[in-house]
Amino acid sequence: MNSQLDTELQTETVTMDVFRSDVLEGLNNSPKKLFSKYFYDKTGDKIFQQIMNMPEYYLTHCELDIFKNKTKELADSILSNDIPFDLIELGAGDAMKSSYLLKHLVDKGVDFTYMPIDISGNILSVLNEKFRDELPSLKIISLEGDYFDMLDKATSISKRRKVVLFLGGNIGNMDLEESNHFCRELSRKLSPGDLLLIGFDLKKNPHTILNAYNDAAGITASFNLNLLVRINRELNADFDVSRFQHYQTYDPVSGACKSYLVSLAKQHVHIGSTVVKFEENELIDMEVSQKFSQEDISKLAKDSSFHILNEIKDSKSWFVDSVWQVV
Ligand code: AVI
Repeated sequence: MNSQLDTELQTETVTMDVFRSDVLEGLNNSPKKLFSKYFYDKTGDKIFQQIMNMPEYYLTHCELDIFKNKTKELADSILSNDIPFDLIELGAGDAMKSSYLLKHLVDKGVDFTYMPIDISGNILSVLNEKFRDELPSLKIISLEGDYFDMLDKATSISKRRKVVLFLGGNIGNMDLEESNHFCRELSRKLSPGDLLLIGFDLKKNPHTILNAYNDAAGITASFNLNLLVRINRELNADFDVSRFQHYQTYDPVSGACKSYLVSLAKQHVHIGSTVVKFEENELIDMEVSQKFSQEDISKLAKDSSFHILNEIKDSKSWFVDSVWQVV
């Protein structure tokens, strides 16, 4: 019991050290940078749930439309020739969308284990509780941590064909070089014949995109600012959140939708014993939410040794869930 507690404490310390060095290194960059993967503490999870319910945030409605109304097409795409499989979801969150597919598979009597992976242990507990009540016969192994560490763990546990879900346009939170590297790593870790069901937010009217990330109620702004609050609490820092302002951009040519925090004054911020200086109007690069054309998607699949098997779009053709097979 004590040694388990020791291991947990050590893991927590290592995670905290990585968080601290990522924050300090990022703020030493020019332009300053913080990683959006750290948005998701307990408050960040709650704010993200609010974002997903905002009328402007069409991504959730579009992908929900696919999972609710095209469930059979999704299921048929992954049930190749009754070969047994396990379903691994990267960044599962509360599994709001995938639950439609999971229910369909369970109702059909398909034998599979669901392995949700998420960086947030908090959201995984919410998910486990939800399925315990709503889908008690679903077999779940939850894996808390970084995508690839946990994917290694999942592939060591599961000896069956793998179907990986990567939904919600999460791939968009990487720049193009990172997403290329990420997909190549994924195909390398999987085996020929394994599948990836991956969600892309498509390029569309630029106003629609900008509005989704620049909501009138300021929920997206508070999502960004919450990372400063988290740094204050966890890294003994003294950011004055009222002296930073959210700024959102969208470039319809490159498809990069980017959020920044702007320092409203010349100021010094302490993070533990380190002092970080900000000029007035200096930026912190917070997040990219990349939007894709059909050609971008085909190129990404080809460059990372995947073959596109099927493309399932919502009724407005704003979002696509693309089914890829490892070549
Ligand atoms: C999680 N991810 C796909 C969201 C997105 O659309 O980039 C995160 C987000 N950031 C601001 N609003 C939503």
